[in-house]
Amino acid sequence: MEITYLGHACFMANINGKKVLFDPFIRYNQLAAHIDFNSIVADYILITHGHQDHIADAMEIANRNDAMVVSNYEIVSWLQGQGLKNGHGLNHGGSWTFDFGKVKYVNAVHSSVLPDGTYGGNPGGFVIESNEGNFYYAGDTAVHMDMQLIPMLSKPMDLAILPIGDNFTMGYEDASVAAEMVKVKKVMGVHYDTFPPIKIDHEAAKACFSAKGLELLLPPIGESLSI
Ligand code: NI
Ligand code: MN
Repeated sequence: MEITYLGHACFMANINGKKVLFDPFIRYNQLAAHIDFNSIVADYILITHGHQDHIADAMEIANRNDAMVVSNYEIVSWLQGQGLKNGHGLNHGGSWTFDFGKVKYVNAVHSSVLPDGTYGGNPGGFVIESNEGNFYYAGDTAVHMDMQLIPMLSKPMDLAILPIGDNFTMGYEDASVAAEMVKVKKVMGVHYDTFPPIKIDHEAAKACFSAKGLELLLPPIGESLSI
């Protein structure tokens, strides 16, 4: 499975030939100005919560690709009210198997309101299981003890994609504890550097993980990694 980082908390996973896009926020991210927004192709768009920096580009990409949007029930309903054709609503603890793999919506400790002020339900993260690999994307969250449920309830994770920017989410030190709870060795950091309050020292963040025998990957925007 190939995962391409598209800036902030947005990435594209290529799973079983399907393009699965997470938390699209590209056009408004100055650090992602070199990404050709109009050429982004997606079969699925997975959205963790209703904040602008996770949903801003969802409708446009969904419309032009006829993509299926997967999120919580409230967010999918809100998008359907704006004309979304294909949506699948989940709620916490629930999973559904799509043609690329199984998606479970799991807890996050954060907030969630949609851009127009509509209630966005409770925020979440996703556990993805497929025959090409398994990963956990936490969404925006503090570290929390429910992360310990992931290795109890799901197949072993090959990768965790965790916010590390601090201020609005956990910082990298707490994220290294999250990785230990999820029992994963390899982490891709997201939700850092985009805005002044979440700028981080990359080398210090990597050192924090390597001191625990963990690996923190910080691919440049537009670069890919394989699991
Ligand atoms: Ni948020
Ligand atoms: Mn965010």
